[in-house]
Amino acid sequence: MTALARTIWITGGGSGIGLALARRWSREGATLILSGRDEARLQQAVEELEGPAHALPVDVTGSAPVAAAVSLIRERHGVPEMAVLNAGIYRPSTRLSAERIEAHLQTNLLGVVRCLEALLPGMRERGSGQVILMGSPAGYLGLPGATGYGASKAALLNLAEALWPELRRAGIDLRLVSPGFVDTPMVARNRFPMPFLMSADEAARRIIRGLEGRAFEIAFPRRLIWPLKALRCLPAGLRVRILNLLAGHQRD
Ligand SMILES: NC(=O)c1ccc[n+]([C@@H]2O[C@H](COP(=O)([O-])OP(=O)(O)OC[C@H]3O[C@@H](n4cnc5c(N)ncnc54)[C@H](OP(=O)(O)O)[C@@H]3O)[C@@H](O)[C@H]2O)c1
Repeated sequence: MTALARTIWITGGGSGIGLALARRWSREGATLILSGRDEARLQQAVEELEGPAHALPVDVTGSAPVAAAVSLIRERHGVPEMAVLNAGIYRPSTRLSAERIEAHLQTNLLGVVRCLEALLPGMRERGSGQVILMGSPAGYLGLPGATGYGASKAALLNLAEALWPELRRAGIDLRLVSPGFVDTPMVARNRFPMPFLMSADEAARRIIRGLEGRAFEIAFPRRLIWPLKALRCLPAGLRVRILNLLAGHQRD
């Protein structure tokens, strides 16, 4: 945890990576505000944390509820020192569907944008803050079966790169986290092998270690990230052929 982060808001904090981060930061004495849609699950998460923690249910697909949640945080705790914009959905399918792609964009991309819109004015005014966006290596490449999810994470990567310089000038530290496969409810229904799968606690440990450094992107494990980044550098025609071979004949 950076010296600044006394109050931390985590969207998607009731489960998986968000909750694993909350557990670690709570042990270090931070005040945690956990958001998500499932109020009962948030309450349960808050009760198990060791330090001060609050459940703040909010659905990031609505601009007014997100604005209201951030106002409430500001009223009760001030502008949070850190926000982990981690809420996300993953509904893999090889069938093209506008509805499914829209759902991913609404949560994984626009959900983050809504939180930023509400948070950034306060952080800018104060001249400090740390914002962590939860990306994914699925945003590096067009992976078969991950159309909506991959598109949302690719857009998030693009958004983070575009915002970074301006936020840096405003004193706001923006980071992008790109974890490999993490054993959380999100991937529980995956029926394909997930190389280098790690626990949510191990992912949280690596994220926190990454935040102690200065890198814009915290991406792990290297054994998965580097080959994917190398693939990204290839000409597109060659890349799609290699991805096709790797994916085999994936079906719903
Ligand atoms: N697990 C992996 O392998 C992996 C790899 C790379 C990146 N990631 C990213 O890591 C982040 C966390 O995922 P996870 O793996 O920890 O899975 P998870 O346990 O399913 O966490 C996702 C969280 O997002 C919340 N959420 C979903 N839709 C929401 C909405 N509309 N409004 C508010 N909260 C919402 C969920 O809570 P409610 O259902 O209560 O709303 C849940 O707590 C995601 O952004 C995911 O894309 C995961």
